[in-house]
Amino acid sequence: MKKYKLAIVGATGLVGRSFLKVLEEKNLPIENYTLFASQRSAGTKINFLGKEYEVQELNENSFDSGFDFALFSAGGEISKKYAPIAASKGCIVIDNSSYFRMDKDVPLVVPEVNFEDVKNNHGIIANPNCSTIQAMLPLKALDDKYKIKRIIYSTYQAVSGAGKNALDDLKNIDGKEPLKKFPHPIFDNCLPHIDSFLDNGYTKEEMKMINETRKILHNPDLKITATTVRVPVSNSHCESINVEFEKDFEIQDLINTLKNFPNIVVLDNPEKNEYPMPILANGHDEVFVGRIRRDDSVKSGVNLWVVADNIRKGAASNAVQILEKLITTKI
Ligand code: A2P
Repeated sequence: MKKYKLAIVGATGLVGRSFLKVLEEKNLPIENYTLFASQRSAGTKINFLGKEYEVQELNENSFDSGFDFALFSAGGEISKKYAPIAASKGCIVIDNSSYFRMDKDVPLVVPEVNFEDVKNNHGIIANPNCSTIQAMLPLKALDDKYKIKRIIYSTYQAVSGAGKNALDDLKNIDGKEPLKKFPHPIFDNCLPHIDSFLDNGYTKEEMKMINETRKILHNPDLKITATTVRVPVSNSHCESINVEFEKDFEIQDLINTLKNFPNIVVLDNPEKNEYPMPILANGHDEVFVGRIRRDDSVKSGVNLWVVADNIRKGAASNAVQILEKLITTKI
């Protein structure tokens, strides 16, 4: 069996470290890993798969040695500059930044939902935004069966999604340290503000959810609105998703449709106080769905509560799942 060469760009970051963790859990046929970061952490030693790896500084010649694949999570500017260089040298890049997501030549992929879109890649495949990824599994299951008419997203997003400095702000309980990431304290607070504000009044995060959902579900005219909120939870995003359908549904049939979709766990026993929560989703790759109930204010609608580990399924695991499927599937 062919053995592959993999580059990991941003290997020292929150998502980068999670790439390494997820790769350690899988047994992929990769014979050579190279870890890249900035000059700041060049030379840092990282233990990975029982070996010590020295982090290399990323530069324009980094991809000369012929990588088959690269996982990128070092921010949009690094992807913008280096992903095309890697792709021009025959490497397939799986990019976690938002830079290429809406490019028509770049597939935006959740493996359980639209893996076949990778056929149209030109060397770069984009990993969607964390809050989009977890919504896609239940929405794809329900769109195939009942045809979605409209979606209302309201998110409760964990601090880890904003990186290491944001987690330091969450620990800044007495407000004595200067804030490193957020414009206001996140401890004991909620911020209806994720990424920057746009001229239409939405935030970039909200527009990412709207545009990426349309691209992944192949429905550019789908009616969607979103409000994204940062909450003082360290890890795992929660989402309230209200969905309106073209077709009627039976609630038990809808629940079974969700249960039968790959990597969805339905956890919905209100009588036992059982429902998805961040503390249950942390460390897992599945998407947890609960509080499933008919929305009686419309002809055919449902409310869902959807929780997933935003660093794993929302970023690193989704990217590694794409890599795994590229290696194991002939497409
Ligand atoms: P470094 O540790 O050297 O700064 P996070 O999103 O958790 O802050 O992580 C960002 C990741 O992107 C880190 O691994 C960081 O490396 C990496 N990174 C930042 N700037 C560059 C750069 N100019 N070249 C390569 N990697 C970079």
